[in-house]
Amino acid sequence: MPENRCLQGIWSSPWIFIFAAGGSAVGLGNIWKFPYVLGENGGGAFLMVYCLCLLAVGLPVLIAEVSLGRTVRSNPIDTVNDLSERNLLHSRWVIVPWLAGITGFLILTFYSVISGWSMAYLERAVAGQFAGLDQSSAQSMFDTLLSSPGEMLFWHSLFMFLVILTVGQSVTRGLSTLVRILLPALIIILLFLASYSMLVGNAAEAIDFLFRWSWQDLTFDVVLAAVGHALFSLSVGMGAMFAYGAYMSKRMSIARACAIVVGVDLLVALLAGLVIFPLVFAFQIDVEAGPSLTFVSLPIILGALPAGPFVGAIFFLLLVIAALTSAISMLELFVAWMHEKYYIGRLQAATMLGGAVWFIGIAVLMSFADWDSKLIFGLNGFELLDKFTTLIMLPVVAILLSVLVAWALPRDMLQKELITQQVNHFQWWHNVLKYISIPVMVLITVAGWIGV
Ligand code: TRP
Repeated sequence: MPENRCLQGIWSSPWIFIFAAGGSAVGLGNIWKFPYVLGENGGGAFLMVYCLCLLAVGLPVLIAEVSLGRTVRSNPIDTVNDLSERNLLHSRWVIVPWLAGITGFLILTFYSVISGWSMAYLERAVAGQFAGLDQSSAQSMFDTLLSSPGEMLFWHSLFMFLVILTVGQSVTRGLSTLVRILLPALIIILLFLASYSMLVGNAAEAIDFLFRWSWQDLTFDVVLAAVGHALFSLSVGMGAMFAYGAYMSKRMSIARACAIVVGVDLLVALLAGLVIFPLVFAFQIDVEAGPSLTFVSLPIILGALPAGPFVGAIFFLLLVIAALTSAISMLELFVAWMHEKYYIGRLQAATMLGGAVWFIGIAVLMSFADWDSKLIFGLNGFELLDKFTTLIMLPVVAILLSVLVAWALPRDMLQKELITQQVNHFQWWHNVLKYISIPVMVLITVAGWIGV
């Protein structure tokens, strides 16, 4: 298939796919979500299962998603339509990319609000407000933000504005330059912060918590959280990687590119853990604090550093950019589809979708401001959306997509797509996807739901 078939362009070099996919993967999920989900799920046990999930589920499904995108070089919805027509499959398979797009859309409604918090903290860092914070003043700084819907609305709106502008451009331009600087810079600053945090905080207890494994911590809830987070963190299960795969050069090995993305994603999450947990134990912050964990512990260390305001400003700036490069991947599926199918301008499509996300985001933001208002099942608006997307939608889409790739589509077609790898690697991947990833996802998700 000629490379120029793709309407939206191709990444200008094979490496750019890695940067773009890495930019989508590395985001708030690594720095904000990973530490608190780990804290809520017993530390070491979660980490161990999480690593297994990355290998047994995350990587194979990521490869599946990217290959599917690259075979047809079109947006995910048309790709699945096209593939099911060519291979005489049921046309209902098109539900998979639709569900994927909806998941991304829903995730963005709360992702944008949390990105807004990062922007608010960027402002505080620049203003030097972190100096001399202790546990209680850091907590009250966070509580003040949560009780100011006006401020949250301002940052949420600004963030969505940036998302719309960026997705409105073609993602194969612009984005790549940004991420090329972002990822290395983020890793360097996290390394620096982690060393400092281990020096001033309680490194021994943090390492013990992160890496100590005990059987009794292992429950189905922990495993479900690990599967859900592995999908979330790698951005699979909502078609973002699917869409990015469509812009990938045929010269690149999909498996190698995906393995690198998984490695970088895990590295950033681990570094974030090593920054946060020594402080959490030194300052006796509750490890199960939930979404506030990162925002309460980070300013303490930034305030204690000699060059605190400077390092803090850079850190939160990088975090906001990381969030932005993830957020744009959540809208890419529908924007690419509207653009290719109905010839709607990318900016126009992004504005319509982004506007709707912005609107729903206001409800999420109000649920933080009025944290105690529990709507359904004892969960507030944010918790409801977060749990529904991570624990239900992402696994369901990932399962359906894997079944489509592993069982429904002809094997030689995939093999041709993955030709850059040796044959035995292809066999390996195909078998792992069929006999490990899918059964594991089905088993765990169902068991987790019925609360075994
Ligand atoms: N992976 C991103 C993070 O860790 C979030 C993200 C971007 C995402 N695109 C996604 C999550 C698609 C699920 C699905 O912050």
